[in-house]
Amino acid sequence: MAIPQSGATVSLPAQSTYQSRVADYWNAEENPVNLELGKIDDLYHHHYGVGDVDWSVVDEPDAARRQQRVTAELHRLEHAQAELLASHLGPLSPADRVFDAGCGRGGGSVVANQRYGCHADGVTLSTKQADFANEQARARGIDGKVRYHHRNMLDTGFETGGYAASWNNESTMYVELDLLFAEHSRLLRRGGRYVVVTGCYNDTYGRASREVSLINAHYICDIHPRSEYFRAMARHRLVPVHVEDLTPATIPYWELRKTADHLVTGIEDAFLDAYRNGSFQYLLIVADRV
Ligand SMILES: C[S@@+](CC[C@H](N)C(=O)[O-])C[C@H]1O[C@@H](n2cnc3c(N)ncnc32)[C@H](O)[C@@H]1O
Repeated sequence: MAIPQSGATVSLPAQSTYQSRVADYWNAEENPVNLELGKIDDLYHHHYGVGDVDWSVVDEPDAARRQQRVTAELHRLEHAQAELLASHLGPLSPADRVFDAGCGRGGGSVVANQRYGCHADGVTLSTKQADFANEQARARGIDGKVRYHHRNMLDTGFETGGYAASWNNESTMYVELDLLFAEHSRLLRRGGRYVVVTGCYNDTYGRASREVSLINAHYICDIHPRSEYFRAMARHRLVPVHVEDLTPATIPYWELRKTADHLVTGIEDAFLDAYRNGSFQYLLIVADRV
């Protein structure tokens, strides 16, 4: 087998049919909740938010201004989540490299670069997202350090042990955790940091609830139980050092989003009901690669 030299093209296995359908979804995706929020400061997050809501935004009497303020408030909460995740990646130096698995339109890698000055490689199944994110990095003048790739996060072809930190923000429900954590474990250097923020179903409820199943159908994904994260991490040299149940912190985001007629996608009630009936949890897990 030929070993690819630096700069040589790495040949990657074809995507599964499922992965092609996920790519189709994200190539076609133009939801205002993803685009209108990002336009505010060119930080495009495709995940949810955490923190207390400033409810004065919904009392704004002028309708157009109210929409703007609600949009800005949702963006503030999404950004707070990206910052929370990034705060657990460090300490990192500008020479370090981080891996953003399932990077969407790229906001998370920009946040990490802004915080640490580090190099970042983001991967997504969507060519459209990778092109968009690379264009954003060029416009910010950080394309020398922050790069996005159309690759499979289960099999990136990136350098073994080349990364000081890596993460998944709302993208683990598209893959088998054993395959995913094997790749993070391979990419992270010893002592490197892995962080995940994800929705998971609650083992104490039993199996996936109706609401969790609705979320799976909506996004074409397969939400894992909480227990599976810890089992799979243990199998792949990832040792949790901090676990936080973000469920109470994310419910206000969904309550505000439900009021935003100009941004709703129709999945808001499923999230709120699933969180409230105890079948679903929003989790942050920070782990060390040993
Ligand atoms: C909900 S978005 C999250 C985006 C991003 N992490 C963020 O926080 O803005 C899910 C992302 O996972 C990506 N994804 C799903 N399966 C993947 C795979 N096997 N390899 C690479 N990316 C994948 C999708 O292409 C999409 O960009």
